[in-house]
Amino acid sequence: MVNFKNRDVISITDFSPEEILDLCGLGKVMYDLEKSGRRYNSEYKFTVKRKLASFFCESSTRTRLGTNAAMYELNGVFDGFSGAEGTSLTKNETIRDTIMMANALHYDAIIMRHSKDGALQWAADVSQTPVINGGDGINEHPTQALLDMLTLYMYNNNKFDGLTIGFGGDLSHGRTIRSLSLALSHFDDITIRWAAEDFLGMPKDLSDLLQSRSVKVERLETVREVMSGVKFYYMTRPQTERMKDVSQEQVIEMMKKYRVDLSQVDGFDVRLMHPLPVNSKIAEIDYRVYFSPVQSFFKQAEFGLLLRKALLYEILKHDGYIQFSGKLDPKLEFGNNKLKREIKTRIKEGMFIDNILYGTCLDHLPSASAQGIADGWNLKDRGYFFVPANIPKTNKSFLKTDLIDPTERELKSAAIKAPDPTVNYIKDGKVISKFVYLLCKNDNCITRAVNEDVPPKFYNDDGTIRCRYCRRPYTLKNQKVSETELKSFVQSLPKSVNPL
Ligand code: CP
Repeated sequence: MVNFKNRDVISITDFSPEEILDLCGLGKVMYDLEKSGRRYNSEYKFTVKRKLASFFCESSTRTRLGTNAAMYELNGVFDGFSGAEGTSLTKNETIRDTIMMANALHYDAIIMRHSKDGALQWAADVSQTPVINGGDGINEHPTQALLDMLTLYMYNNNKFDGLTIGFGGDLSHGRTIRSLSLALSHFDDITIRWAAEDFLGMPKDLSDLLQSRSVKVERLETVREVMSGVKFYYMTRPQTERMKDVSQEQVIEMMKKYRVDLSQVDGFDVRLMHPLPVNSKIAEIDYRVYFSPVQSFFKQAEFGLLLRKALLYEILKHDGYIQFSGKLDPKLEFGNNKLKREIKTRIKEGMFIDNILYGTCLDHLPSASAQGIADGWNLKDRGYFFVPANIPKTNKSFLKTDLIDPTERELKSAAIKAPDPTVNYIKDGKVISKFVYLLCKNDNCITRAVNEDVPPKFYNDDGTIRCRYCRRPYTLKNQKVSETELKSFVQSLPKSVNPL
């Protein structure tokens, strides 16, 4: 068995194929013990008492109850909350401080669910004790992926290579399909077939990533076409709570052709999986299918408990515990998001930054963004000047202010309004520092939640710049950056999310 001692569980891509196979193997052992009546008197128990903090900032039935039940069956305990109401998160307490409380109060591990993509990577960066991602925004749900893998393992002769799976429902706004397909992408000869309305279809970034990992991705017209070539069909709920400007009625209309009813499964030897919950109003699975032999989603939920037992046992089974230091890791202060630019000339008369001796100039701002930034920085009585975009021979705005060293929050709020601003710090009439401030462009990324103070960080994924937190690719729009400047920035980035 691979060593999982004190491991964080943030993204399924952090697991190797061997680790997934090991966990599924132990999940099967847990299942066999359960079947032989040894739920509580098996050898899989914590010898040192373990406490799990269970922080669910979004609603959950299975992940929360399943993790808590796993702790209970392992002879551990849990406590926490379900929904932010009744917690100090409603008083604007940050994720960082919430996690530090779990550490200070001697919890041995934390499971958290949060609406922001990348929030769990941040929680893991902060925490001294292991953190488990119970779902972050539309990003990832790694324990769901692991339990889905255990289900496939149990029903596919303990292997994944050569597997063909169908996906349906909402491939765009959920996190389970992303995590499961990335888990499968570790194995050989995987085919994903899917059918869904365009709006609910597989996002291009995911489809590109899967194909770059040699997964065959096939879009088909109908559910029956998908069913005809698969042993497993993984249905998902349209995640209406994450859709903007679309009503439930419109989604019901979109789903008409893609719901799974008896006519869709008739004649196929397929197992129907679903991470649950099923939305009873949309009824993406017709109630009659619940009674059909294809229905496998309740067993899938039980495999979830067994997989979580296996995972928690491996993370926490060792003797000893982590003592609280009370300190934050200084690395949490720093981002690596400042793309250094060459300072070519001293400031010359007639240039836009010519009348600042001490201060900051933001360059390469899109039209009409400068005033918003000035308002956001509260510059009204602090001296500023901006040049709008419609000046001759340029299509960009500049903002000049005597303010020295804007704070990270100020730089972030500027980058939210105007992506990829070039920042010039000026002293004694000279530019002393010039950089492009990179902030993840995924609107739902935790780095863009200004009050959380998450330092934007990136890594170099084989030449692609990715956000450390939501792991989305980053495309730089600032045309002024030279090849050399960009290359040197990419080379300066870590090659993976871990280590920091
Ligand atoms: N599958 C799943 O994550 O269910 P819950 O939202 O109920 O936890």
